[in-house]
Amino acid sequence: MYVCICHSVTDRDIIKAAEKGAACLQDLSDALNVATCCGRCASCAKNILKERNPQ
Ligand code: FES
Repeated sequence: MYVCICHSVTDRDIIKAAEKGAACLQDLSDALNVATCCGRCASCAKNILKERNPQ
């Protein structure tokens, strides 16, 4: 599913980035431009990261 419409980023893209070491929203922004336009995807992207890295 698309998480970030502005940059065409999917939940799979976020999971792949997490597997490569992305641990916070800033890491996702740096890697995929998530939440760098309208910002509406920020909370959804954070939730996907949290599910992936529960600590
Ligand atoms: S939906 Fe991600 S920045 Fe707009």
